[in-house]
Amino acid sequence: MSPDNVDDTPGRGGHVAVAIDGPAASGKSSTAQWVAAELGFRHVDSGALYRATTAAALRSGVPPAEWTAAFLLTQAARVSLAPNETSFTPQVDGESVTEEIRRPDVTRGVPHVAQVPAVRTWVNAQVRAVARSHDVVCDGRDMGTAVFPDADLKVFLVADPWERARRRLIQRLSRSPTEEEIAEETDRLVQRDAADVTQTVQAKDAVLIDTTYLTQAEQVERIVALVRAARLRRPLTPWEGLPLVPPPADGSID
Ligand code: C5P
Repeated sequence: MSPDNVDDTPGRGGHVAVAIDGPAASGKSSTAQWVAAELGFRHVDSGALYRATTAAALRSGVPPAEWTAAFLLTQAARVSLAPNETSFTPQVDGESVTEEIRRPDVTRGVPHVAQVPAVRTWVNAQVRAVARSHDVVCDGRDMGTAVFPDADLKVFLVADPWERARRRLIQRLSRSPTEEEIAEETDRLVQRDAADVTQTVQAKDAVLIDTTYLTQAEQVERIVALVRAARLRRPLTPWEGLPLVPPPADGSID
């Protein structure tokens, strides 16, 4: 998909879109992936598109201080999403960049790239294009606001920064991190939260889930149940709208 040939017309042809947003390391991507697998949907990681565009720009050798909007759009044109069994593999020039986009230099550069409106428009178009041909669980910062204001379900995940840092380090180091390591990672996360604050928005109709004291299985279970409930949502019939117990004769409700 290149910026020029994206079909960005509205509507999803009856496909379901679940939007999962939240700050860095709130567990969005892994939760979204698991929810998608449970439901037989596709997972779309919008952050991976911002990261892949940043990785392409870094590969170009042009110093970050010289990255203009036009230059970044040229880099975005090198990015594609290759379908895999449950998700999409981000690619630059047709080559998988799954590992490369997690490098610290990409993580440092991506918030600046993500501030560029033309890049945001391009990423949003890619995500909407996928959602026109698949049932999707999309994760990011603005899936429920800018990308799918009409999503079937919107979830906003939050967690205590210390806990987010601890989980991120366990994932990265495959061991228990020290207190000092967690403190340093917490600082980095808080800085990234600040850099991403403009676009990290909880939609008014999103369900807020604080995952600080939840296991990932519990988060997934809740979201899957919410998706199922949202899909069954329909106008109440007159009978369903009636109270189960007749109201008191004087009309008071206690
Ligand atoms: O989700 P992840 O942390 O991988 O996203 C990387 C970066 O991409 C974020 O720090 C943010 O700058 C940007 N991003 C964004 N909007 C999204 C998803 C990611 O601005 N929907």
